[in-house]
Amino acid sequence: MSKNISKKGFETLCISDRLPGRTEGFSHVPPIHATSTFVYESAEKAMNVFQGKEEAYIYGRWHNPSYTIVEQKVALLESYGLDIETPEAILFSSGMAAISSVFLSLSLKQGDAVLTQGNLYGTTTEMLNTILGDHGVDILYQNLKDLKQVEVLLKKNKSIKIIYIETPANPTLDCYDLGALAALAKKYGKLTAVDNTFATPYLQQPLAHGIDFVMHSTTKFLNGHGNAIGGIVVGSNTKLMKQVWRMRKLLGSNPSPFDAFLLNNGIKTLVLRMEKHCNNAEKVAEWLQNHPAVGKVNYTGLTNHPDHELAIAQMRRFGGILSFELKGGVDAGIKLMNGVKHCVLTASLGTADTLIQHPASMTHVQVDREQRLQFGITDGLVRLSVGIEDVDDIINDLEQALA
Ligand SMILES: Cc1ncc(COP(=O)(O)O)c(C=O)c1O
Repeated sequence: MSKNISKKGFETLCISDRLPGRTEGFSHVPPIHATSTFVYESAEKAMNVFQGKEEAYIYGRWHNPSYTIVEQKVALLESYGLDIETPEAILFSSGMAAISSVFLSLSLKQGDAVLTQGNLYGTTTEMLNTILGDHGVDILYQNLKDLKQVEVLLKKNKSIKIIYIETPANPTLDCYDLGALAALAKKYGKLTAVDNTFATPYLQQPLAHGIDFVMHSTTKFLNGHGNAIGGIVVGSNTKLMKQVWRMRKLLGSNPSPFDAFLLNNGIKTLVLRMEKHCNNAEKVAEWLQNHPAVGKVNYTGLTNHPDHELAIAQMRRFGGILSFELKGGVDAGIKLMNGVKHCVLTASLGTADTLIQHPASMTHVQVDREQRLQFGITDGLVRLSVGIEDVDDIINDLEQALA
């Protein structure tokens, strides 16, 4: 590993592909390595590779050059400008494969515990409760903004192995203090992991705060076009990252080379897209805040948001996702979903077009009402993934649908 002392800019790193052996006539765009396996020039070379004495591609579940290009790129972006060794990155078939592989790589046993927040992406909560919980691992849900209580728990509960953070969180947009949580974890010898999906490395770099693992659903902003599912884990500890890679090899949660190619294409325009997502989201949030049908807008870019200062401290800008509460509850949410003509009614986020969803009638319809209310997912809460269209078209659509 070497330090990421690249003198190139962040945008240049997004765009540049490190193609090994680029010679005359070589493909300008990285080719899609649509192959399951790789060949050797001799039996001796093959033997060395299998014995781990030489590095070479072996099999698509292990590695593939189409993954390597993206892995190296995201590793450089997550460590851009930081005085740390360039981390490693491992690409997965989905965000959930990336997140679950980190937990599985830790070989948590009965009686071990994970400390996390209640307002996580729903499938992450389900994965923790079932895959880990059913095997006797305690999942401790705690308000991670209450740093005093976090320290009390870390001090008294030796079985906590890792703190898992999602910031900004889905769908309430709460922010958690990465520096403070990482410092507490280090003080008590615990690991930390952050889901950086909403922010991307352009807006937030958890490694700068001493976080051990950074995960993404690359399905969202990193791909940016909604045409492939994917995930990635980034981390600086070679030993821990080798265990994460082993999960991909053993569980077969590698992506397809085509999806890796699409992801690499998407990352090339990450900065342009994120700047426009942020510009548009700021305008839409301001507009929603003054709409009579809207009770509350969750967007850290608004100066009255409780996490505004924290977001300024740890993020470059405030991101492209916001949520808002309709005064009319579930019925108003359903009416809005049926009323929009431009915004797309769908559960994902981070694409070029604006996506809208109503958790109480969609993603959280199976969740007990009391439970979702506890985590701020109210009856009238609507999540908007603000796209990069002309912002007036987004606002006009919401205006006609809310009328
Ligand atoms: C914050 C967050 N993390 C993880 C995931 C899971 O990612 P994937 O759908 O790529 O498995 C999602 C999906 O919506 C998400 O929003």
